[in-house]
Amino acid sequence: MSGEGPSAPGEATLELLQEGEEQELFSAYARIVADGDGFPHTPPLGWGEFADYWLAHSAAVVLAREAGQLIGAYYLKPNFVGRAAHIANAGYFVVAAERGRGIGRLLVTDSIRRAPALGFDALQFNLVFASNPARRLYEELGFEVVGRLPRAVEGEDALIYWRTLPPA
Ligand SMILES: CC(C)(COP(=O)(O)OP(=O)(O)OC[C@H]1O[C@@H](n2cnc3c(N)ncnc32)[C@H](O)[C@@H]1OP(=O)(O)O)[C@@H](O)C(=O)NCCC(=O)NCCS
Repeated sequence: MSGEGPSAPGEATLELLQEGEEQELFSAYARIVADGDGFPHTPPLGWGEFADYWLAHSAAVVLAREAGQLIGAYYLKPNFVGRAAHIANAGYFVVAAERGRGIGRLLVTDSIRRAPALGFDALQFNLVFASNPARRLYEELGFEVVGRLPRAVEGEDALIYWRTLPPA
């Protein structure tokens, strides 16, 4: 133990979800949902809803680990079908104890880097709670508000964010 406080995000590794890791991801995400953190699912999150949201439609699911522990994750999937499927959607979370040390930024920048090779040329977030501190990160990384959903979740407005992606 160094006793020097939180370690740098550089110590986290990002890898594609491997077979057999789904249950671990489910447990971590179910905790996010139970805390009402940033996503609109009604808790408690069931396996079926998790699998449909994170696994069934995703082009990539990436896990962040540190010393073997799952500390965050994101998915990338088409936001629409057919002729609009070039627009991706992504969702990110960092486990509560590891927030505020750059892991979220690592996840979002990795998704921006990874998405073009998967055939996406834009990235859209459909439901960013107006109070979500992640908005500052999104805006810093080039996302712009392209819509506002009044009273989307329990009376709170949500924003739609979008940005183009560099060519693959
Ligand atoms: C959103 C989330 C992934 C951010 O992860 P994180 O590891 O804490 O983020 P980072 O440490 O990389 O912070 C990046 C930037 O986000 C902003 N930010 C993140 N959390 C913040 C907070 N609590 N207060 C203020 N700004 C915050 C800051 O701009 C920060 O930049 P800075 O480090 O230069 O100040 C994390 O808070 C989370 O999992 N939240 C619950 C799920 C969620 O809301 N997901 C997004 C759904 S749209």
